[in-house]
Amino acid sequence: MADFERLQQLYAAGTLPWDHNDPPPEVVTEAAVWPLGRALDLGTGLGRAALHLARLGWQVDGVDFIPEAVAEATRRAQAAGLAARVSFHQSTVTRLDFLTGAYDLAVDVGCAHGLNATELTAYHAQLKRLLRGGARYLLFAHLNDAVADADAQRWLNEPLLYRIFADGFTLERVEYGETTVQNNPTWRSAWFWWRRDDTTA
Ligand SMILES: C[S@@+](CC[C@H](N)C(=O)[O-])C[C@H]1O[C@@H](n2cnc3c(N)ncnc32)[C@H](O)[C@@H]1O
Repeated sequence: MADFERLQQLYAAGTLPWDHNDPPPEVVTEAAVWPLGRALDLGTGLGRAALHLARLGWQVDGVDFIPEAVAEATRRAQAAGLAARVSFHQSTVTRLDFLTGAYDLAVDVGCAHGLNATELTAYHAQLKRLLRGGARYLLFAHLNDAVADADAQRWLNEPLLYRIFADGFTLERVEYGETTVQNNPTWRSAWFWWRRDDTTA
């Protein structure tokens, strides 16, 4: 689990590029548009999206596999008086059996792009199980080009994402961009707006 160790080191160093009070504007806009309900924040980090949603009145579960992230997000929820509306869980996003649906919104800002093909398939199965028909799923990802061995890829393989999420989800919108974090090289990125298909049909 090389990614886990790299991320744990980042958390230990305390220099996290995603340590901001507010989530990205795409999340803020989405959260404001939909009627309040249950939300899931995948790879929640320090909980900025989860806390924003809870502040608006959503009932939120945030999941991250780094213990320090979950501890700090929980501390922030308590400090903000939001502990009744948001729970943080330490787990990989590929194994969410401890959660039960139905959720109305799922948000993933920068988590799924680290999953390999096998993990992305398991992640999709969990989202498909947990989201109600018509629920929204907003994904921000670092894009990469497809490589022959999908299990050896780094960052999100877009054709693979489309193949996996063709089962049970409809892509409503995608916006491509370029992202630069601190002084690092710029990378291709995208926001994906998905809708969970009607589950009663
Ligand atoms: C780029 S950070 C973004 C954090 C947060 N979404 C935000 O926007 O502030 C990605 C987060 O996903 C978490 N993560 C990565 N892979 C994960 C996995 N397989 N299961 C759970 N969390 C994961 C990392 O620990 C990290 O906190």
